[in-house]
Amino acid sequence: MGRIIAIANQKGGVGKTTTAINLAACLAEAGQKILIIDIDPQGNTTSGFGLSKTDIEKTVYEVLLGECNIKDAIVENIIDNLDILPSNVNLAGAEIDLIDVDNREYIFCLLYTSDAADEEDSVDLGGCRILKKKKNEGE
Ligand SMILES: Nc1ncnc2c1ncn2[C@@H]1O[C@H](COP(=O)(O)OP(=O)(O)OP(=O)(O)O)[C@@H](O)[C@H]1O
Ligand SMILES: [Mg+2]
Repeated sequence: MGRIIAIANQKGGVGKTTTAINLAACLAEAGQKILIIDIDPQGNTTSGFGLSKTDIEKTVYEVLLGECNIKDAIVENIIDNLDILPSNVNLAGAEIDLIDVDNREYIFCLLYTSDAADEEDSVDLGGCRILKKKKNEGE
């Protein structure tokens, strides 16, 4: 059974992202397989793991728009046991770009391993599988 840990505070700049980065790094150090998905246009998690927000070309934005495969956007083993799907300021445009896509809130579906999952559009995450739902699914 998975456990959900929410790091939430309505105030900005209080260390939510910093806590997420350090928690992820500690869990990876403890041997857990981690995929950290940066879904903030600020990209502070991405830069926090040492990636250049301006140089990176394949981000969560391109994945959400179906412009690249999630496997190609994930940077593997940025530290041992930890992969990252990076983000940058491009993501700020996603809300507009996806405005006519039904169920756009559910483009990412985190599912437990399913035999029905399409290998081409999914990535194993140590017992979990993250699926990229195609833009036209459900239309
Ligand atoms: N424990 C801490 N002690 C001192 N500075 C910290 C600490 N945690 C975070 N910071 C600094 O505070 C700033 C804001 O942190 P962070 O980006 O994690 O906040 P946030 O809550 O995610 O902000 P936002 O709401 O904009 O997403 C950063 O410069 C970070 O380095
Ligand atoms: Mg933050």
